[in-house]
Amino acid sequence: MLKNKGNYFILSADGSTLLLKAEGERAELVYFGEKLSSLAGADLLAAAGEPGLGLFSQWGKTDFREPSLLIRHADGSASSDFRLRSARIARRVLPEGLPASYGEDRCVRLEFFDPAARLALILQYAAYAEGFSVSAYLENNSAETVTIERFASLQLELFGTDFSFTTFDGAWGSERQRHTRPLVLGKCENASYAGSSSHFHNPLTLLSRTGETYCVNLVYSGNHRTAAEADCSGRTRLIAGINPFSFSWKLSPGEKFFAPEGIVTFGAGEADACRNMRNLIAEHIVPKAWKMRERPVLVNHWEGTYFSFTREKILSIARAAAEVGAELFVLDDGWFGRRDDDTSSLGDWTDYAEKTGGIASLAEEIRGMGLKFGIWMEPEMISPDSELFRAHPEYCMRIPGREPVPMRNQLMLDLTDRKVREFIVGAVSRVIEETGAEYVKWDYNRYMTDCFGPSVRGGEYFHRYILGLYEILSALTEKFPDVLFEGCASGGGRFDPGMLCFMPQIWTSDNTDARERVAIQSGTACGYPQSTMGAHVSASPNEQTGNRNSLETRFHVACGGVLGYELDLSACTPEEREEIRAQIAFYKRYRSVLQFGEYFPLKDPADKWAGYLSVSKDRSAAVAVVAVFEKRTSEAGLRAGFAGLDEKALYRVTVRRGAKEEELGTASGELLVKGKIPLCGIFAETDERENSNPLYTRMYLFERTEVRR
Ligand code: DGJ
Repeated sequence: MLKNKGNYFILSADGSTLLLKAEGERAELVYFGEKLSSLAGADLLAAAGEPGLGLFSQWGKTDFREPSLLIRHADGSASSDFRLRSARIARRVLPEGLPASYGEDRCVRLEFFDPAARLALILQYAAYAEGFSVSAYLENNSAETVTIERFASLQLELFGTDFSFTTFDGAWGSERQRHTRPLVLGKCENASYAGSSSHFHNPLTLLSRTGETYCVNLVYSGNHRTAAEADCSGRTRLIAGINPFSFSWKLSPGEKFFAPEGIVTFGAGEADACRNMRNLIAEHIVPKAWKMRERPVLVNHWEGTYFSFTREKILSIARAAAEVGAELFVLDDGWFGRRDDDTSSLGDWTDYAEKTGGIASLAEEIRGMGLKFGIWMEPEMISPDSELFRAHPEYCMRIPGREPVPMRNQLMLDLTDRKVREFIVGAVSRVIEETGAEYVKWDYNRYMTDCFGPSVRGGEYFHRYILGLYEILSALTEKFPDVLFEGCASGGGRFDPGMLCFMPQIWTSDNTDARERVAIQSGTACGYPQSTMGAHVSASPNEQTGNRNSLETRFHVACGGVLGYELDLSACTPEEREEIRAQIAFYKRYRSVLQFGEYFPLKDPADKWAGYLSVSKDRSAAVAVVAVFEKRTSEAGLRAGFAGLDEKALYRVTVRRGAKEEELGTASGELLVKGKIPLCGIFAETDERENSNPLYTRMYLFERTEVRR
């Protein structure tokens, strides 16, 4: 909700208030925190003579911290002097060419003007029930071209320097591991230099201190940078936006430049801020058509066959998938060109008919089994050994006179070229039309190195690539509104709100080991809803780690996201298939709770166990999984509380073992939250002998039987 009272603009979310003051030539942040019911005395929040909390920062005045904005003028100088010229509640101008949050048309619009440079800076603040969005753009009203050298989307200044800075970092197979460090004087940075949001550093960032957490993210999939700087004046400045590394953008007279949208939520603690961010993404970022729409249980053959499959093999896996109750079969890598391994054919999106027996008829046969049909593509890539490369070497991203750097034997297409974008839209459309695919897994298996397009200025390349990608995704999602696109980038290398605007779910990680997935999924769930995280049960021993885990444990962990199976189901024993059938039936029964319920991380302070609790919105039902990392003989002390349940209700507590559900009794929500349920019975006698480096899990069900208000 937005309100204007005198010089103040009040932006209200359900649990927080953001208060802006616009006076004379300045606008500043007066308050951002727990919801205020009254503004009486707001003027007291400003100290006479002290600079307020800035909404952006420019170089060339008396502020020597890192600026959010740096513009190089035609004469080579770089000073700016943006002064407020209007402040009002207005219609929100959406960023051109970039995805953005939806659901609110109005914003507080602050317009600043640099009279010497004749440039306008516009900041727009929108309020949702869950938090806020900030979008910024520059308009060149002068007769000269200027160069934007940095332009952050969002600046958040706060009094105090006693914050911690939390980021979600990793690498292939170990994405979004949580790291927290204190912000000491100086800077902490969370950034990507890989061209995509990357496995290395997810754009999700938390700034916290006792009683306050600010959760920040960007609706962007390219190089990002969030930096927090604590300074000697006792303030902290956080800026988030496009990474200024290798970025510079010429803005000609009359042109506008839009920064990607920033989103920010507040909570009186991390749990609240993160819940608000998850809800903001579920409500205002994922495509409308998939908002709160249950995601299908899929079966993918990739880890079961890799490139070596035949039509018969695919059909036998699909048949088994239909028998166990799956809803969608996904034909992964290897169905096109002459793709027998990863050395060829990317770009040749034509049927490898000798292998598939014809994808159109294969899709029909699979549909005949009662399954939907999905297909894998990696549309942004090109193999040097491909018909496409031979016909159109100019489509490839490479620097004249240099050998391009292959990764996984592949190069990238130059998405800054309109012809290439048209080629991709055409190729993907043909595959969808030929097979009638209801689902596309959009993969992206490398980082950017040879950034060069003949008609693109060097500093603009990274961003123009992402604009090109968004143009392609807009065209395809508009053309095929009913197709479910799942994002993938060697697992979770491009898991960000930008991709989520087009693709309601993303493959969380190529690492399907249940043990490792606990940290990957709980890190991801800090800022992304469960319904966005692809989570599959794969074979044991695990392909990536060699760890062995029971089918039950693998299922329990995969229930933390959008459930799928990724193994050769046709090779499973009848007992295993029976167990999987029961798992899928159970998942469908609790799917809405597991995908859209409120998520609560469960965590042992001593790190011996971790897990999650998903509670239905009305808190009448919940599913919890706890995973114990190490079994110690005679250890009786492991106990878990289930924060998130309704303390005023009574719940029937059931434990799920194999396919059996065993009722433990009825308990008050209060006791379940504050008390501790022993986890010792979690270990089966056989576990330690059968499995190596296993994880032990137990799944609990809570069904409300009574409410005591
Ligand atoms: C990487 C993905 O993350 C995998 O799931 C699989 O689709 C392979 N690519 C196929 O090459």
